[in-house]
Amino acid sequence: MSVDRLFVALDMVELDAAQKLARSLAGSAGGLKIGLEFFAANGPAGVARLVATRQRIFLDLKFHDIPNTVAGAVRSAAALGPYMLNVHAAGGRAMMEAAAKAAAEGAARVGKPKPLVIAVTVLTSLSDEDLRDVGQAVPVADQVKRLALLARKSGLDGVVCSAREVAGLRAECGPEFKLVVPGIRPSWAASNDQKRIMGPGDAVTQGADFLVVGRPITGAPDPRAAARSIAQEIAKGATP
Ligand code: C5P
Repeated sequence: MSVDRLFVALDMVELDAAQKLARSLAGSAGGLKIGLEFFAANGPAGVARLVATRQRIFLDLKFHDIPNTVAGAVRSAAALGPYMLNVHAAGGRAMMEAAAKAAAEGAARVGKPKPLVIAVTVLTSLSDEDLRDVGQAVPVADQVKRLALLARKSGLDGVVCSAREVAGLRAECGPEFKLVVPGIRPSWAASNDQKRIMGPGDAVTQGADFLVVGRPITGAPDPRAAARSIAQEIAKGATP
């Protein structure tokens, strides 16, 4: 269903407000993305409160450390019952393999299904020049492709990518690899600080599995109606 593809980014630290929004979006969104800000403020107990609203949770904590440490973190995170969590592909193959295994172990420990484990390739805040500064003398686009293929080989379920990377990665990584895409704006929403935006229908047509949308929904006078309207655009893109 088109609504299942829509994850709402709750970029907020207030637990009560997040819970209220989670409840009001029931049935109008496929899940919620919570990240480091939320986690630093509310911890695992805060995540558990959102999981309890029965919304699917994308736990966007972008783990990046040695394999043993990431495995430990992923095992605990998976036991909280998220639908999806992520790590940095730049942590390397052994780290990603350890993350995939630990996700299965952590979820099994509490009798929950294994979360999707996806990778962040190159942060969209980094330019070709920024990569050169850290010793990676390759264009961003090449590095994104390289890391996406490495994530797939390491047994991960997909990657987060920008709208402009979707079509290329879909062709490169095959139909089963999940592509999770932020930077989505319906025509009626402001672009805010997003520089390269795409409409929900186009992103899905190009191969996105999940769309992450924040402010157009969380900042709308009626978030539920905004989410529904975006789900309708997704439906149109899914059946071209
Ligand atoms: O409010 P907006 O729709 O711009 O929120 C998009 C969400 O996706 C935010 O949580 C943002 O941090 C995240 N994100 C992004 N671009 C990336 C990766 C993540 O906008 N490349």
